[in-house]
Amino acid sequence: MRDFVFENSTKVFFGRGCVERYLGALLKEYGETVLLVYGGGSIKGNGVYDQVMSILASAGKRVVEFHGVMPNPTYTKVLEGVDLARRERVSLVLAVGGGSVMDCGKAIALAVPYDGDVWEGFWAKKGEVRHQPLPLGVIVTMCGTGSECNGGAVVTNEAVKIKTDRDYPQCNPRFALMDPTYTLSVPRNQMLYGGFDALSHIMETYFSGPDEENVSDDIAEALMRGVIRDLRAAAHDPLDYNARSNLMWESTMAENRIIKLGKRTDFQCHQMEHQLGAYTDCNHGAGLAVLHPVYYRHIFQDGLAKFKRFAENVWGISGEGKTDEETARAGIDALEDFILEIGLPVTLRELGVDENTDLKAIADSCGIVPGSYKKLTQEEILGIFRECY
Ligand code: NZQ
Ligand code: ZN
Repeated sequence: MRDFVFENSTKVFFGRGCVERYLGALLKEYGETVLLVYGGGSIKGNGVYDQVMSILASAGKRVVEFHGVMPNPTYTKVLEGVDLARRERVSLVLAVGGGSVMDCGKAIALAVPYDGDVWEGFWAKKGEVRHQPLPLGVIVTMCGTGSECNGGAVVTNEAVKIKTDRDYPQCNPRFALMDPTYTLSVPRNQMLYGGFDALSHIMETYFSGPDEENVSDDIAEALMRGVIRDLRAAAHDPLDYNARSNLMWESTMAENRIIKLGKRTDFQCHQMEHQLGAYTDCNHGAGLAVLHPVYYRHIFQDGLAKFKRFAENVWGISGEGKTDEETARAGIDALEDFILEIGLPVTLRELGVDENTDLKAIADSCGIVPGSYKKLTQEEILGIFRECY
């Protein structure tokens, strides 16, 4: 194993009824005014809003609502929330929703006590958090991003067309309430996008050095097999509680830093998807599903041993009678077949990209990561986009 420092300060409450059971007691630790952050209204349709509001009322909290957080939250929306939180002297940010809502809540909590330019300080490039962000708690209603148990947030600055992700340990939620039944109302396609996002997080970590036997890769393989099994089951029966609760925890495990320990990590596909999102506002998990197989066919020769291991240990493909290259290719084919089988998109056109989309500008705006098996050029990224089109 390579050296590492591990930190994860989020206290997790998982299971049916956890909000009812724990939220009231948790609220006692924080001040009077709660900023309730939520999205476009799904929590009003499934009863979560009423339940949370009633617990907040019983705890004697003053609630300031900040809603309308959109998928792929914008920097403008974050600043709106910061302004409101400052005016109302908020003492706790409570984000109730999926990754977009949690990320927006995190970005607000980070910015409220900070005097400088937040974009320049923390988003345009990696900054140093020397202040204490506002306390943040999250109630997860859609799983996939893993935002509930890390300090990561993804924010789109529409003015400069940059979608950027930063992970600051100081931004970890103080608590995360995860009731799998809250995710049952998520539309089927959103559930699939979230599940694929989790699988992508594991692959983006696994496909990077070191390649010698290590605990992180072992856990990653078990998690990938689990996500594939559970996503298959949930695609067949979206109300399968066992599958949905597994998916919820697998999403957290993928992004709570545990499988990243000692790993370089890749995340080139995420860089490409984020910029596609910045230009087209496409769905994150759907974009990843389109990009991954094509990206892997571009890089697998440079990480052949790991791609062979992926085929054998994750997809159960036998290497017997095959060259290493054939086995590795069969693993990527199996990934693509799985994407098709559960009904995820496989072309950029399905995401709304058309001939007017400036793929070259998007490719030129993508960051190049240091951990990929193959360091891509902007031309290669454009080639991948064109192939996906
Ligand atoms: O806005 P509402 O009305 O709540 O509807 C949402 C939204 O339309 C709906 N939804 C959520 N829970 C629901 C529900 N609908 C019915 N019932 C429920 N229980 O689902 C839609 C999508 O929600 P969103 O939060 O956008 O999805 P997701 O969790 O996939 O988050 C995506 C965002 O997270 C970023 C993505 O880039 C994207 O901006 N990511 C965040 C990461 C992180 N913080 O660590 C890592 C990821 O790689 C990712 O980049
Ligand atoms: Zn992701």
